[in-house]
Amino acid sequence: MSRFVIGVALATLIVTGASAKTGVCKGCHGKNFEKKALGKSKVVKDMSKKEILSALKGYKSGSYGKAMKGIMQKQLSKYSDADLDKLVAEIKK
Ligand code: HEC
Repeated sequence: MSRFVIGVALATLIVTGASAKTGVCKGCHGKNFEKKALGKSKVVKDMSKKEILSALKGYKSGSYGKAMKGIMQKQLSKYSDADLDKLVAEIKK
């Protein structure tokens, strides 16, 4: 039992670690980025790599987005531009 708890705790750590991973995005955007996040965003998997990258950079700098851009800005504030590249690479394999 306790081994199970430790395993879960470790798995959670890995998922929520600050490295650039799309795990945190999926709660809103869907497992394959196939959903409209909170019913508002575009379907990210249908966007091109270039569109996604410029959206992410724009949210981070505050130059892109609509009514709910504050949500995305918060999500992305901890990532470097290099991390954003990694996120896009993970979204569009
Ligand atoms: C709490 C829910 C939530 C999380 C978590 C989240 N997003 Fe979003 N995302 C949104 C919403 C809502 C929008 C639309 C914001 C707006 O009004 O511009 C959006 C917009 C976007 C867009 C642009 C789509 C468009 O409509 O132009 C991209 C790309 C994107 N998110 C990628 C990501 C990535 C990558 C992550 C993980 C690092 C992430 N999101 C995490 C809710 C979320």
